[in-house]
Amino acid sequence: MLKKINEAAEFLAQQFGNDAKIVIVLGSGLNHLADEIITQKVINYTDIPHFPVTTVEGHEGKLIYGKLCNIPIIAMQGRFHYYEGYDMKQVTFPVRVFKAMGVQTMVLSNAAGGMNPLYKVGDIVMITDHINFFPENPLRGKNDNQLGERFPDMSEVYTHALLQKAGSIAKSLGIPYHKGVYVGTSGPTFETPAEYRMYRILGGDCVGMSTVPEAIVAHHGGMQCIAFSVITDLGIAGQVEKVSHREVLNAANMAGKKLQSIVKELVKVI
Ligand code: HPA
Repeated sequence: MLKKINEAAEFLAQQFGNDAKIVIVLGSGLNHLADEIITQKVINYTDIPHFPVTTVEGHEGKLIYGKLCNIPIIAMQGRFHYYEGYDMKQVTFPVRVFKAMGVQTMVLSNAAGGMNPLYKVGDIVMITDHINFFPENPLRGKNDNQLGERFPDMSEVYTHALLQKAGSIAKSLGIPYHKGVYVGTSGPTFETPAEYRMYRILGGDCVGMSTVPEAIVAHHGGMQCIAFSVITDLGIAGQVEKVSHREVLNAANMAGKKLQSIVKELVKVI
């Protein structure tokens, strides 16, 4: 695997150079941040050695290298979801590649269902912790010590210092937000009312189908990590309504503007 990681990293370093220290995963909610990047180079996933390709509607598969608020960044437009059929090593392969390129910080975003009764559609959640409900851990299998340790500590996957910075930025911009625990599930089904209830009882504030694998691997590799959810639907007792992918995308786009302004300020102080 190390050979594949290095081949992809070398290819990208030739295309992008190696001044970008931040990668932003443009999940639902941050799609339009791409419009604010002064783009220097775009590469389709299909052109990167060993990269899988995305298939899901609403997610395009390309890497953007450019400046956001004058800071060099790489943005992933489209990510690899476990529910699409990729295995965990494929889902998290880009994270390994970014780390090999010298990227130090990963900013993740996602759409999630709200289970905390205080949450409303369109709210922003800064993820303080997660519960891994995927059927598999991305670190399962032989550990390569060059990538990280066998039994990583998980007490601070989401970097406290970054959460503090993002919190002060949101306050200064007058953008309300929650802090919460994200439950990561394999999908592709949304939750039944009983499942939402269970995840809530277990300590989750919101639930989605991504982020946890990437965050685990970023942490394993020693990267700083921050992740944001945009609440696109509610799984709150008595308020569980039918949910469709289209509704999720619409709600994510609406709330996305607020999240974009936080991330634009955040990259300046990372
Ligand atoms: N559950 C799981 N994933 C999701 C949800 C949800 O309610 N909303 C957006 N992604």
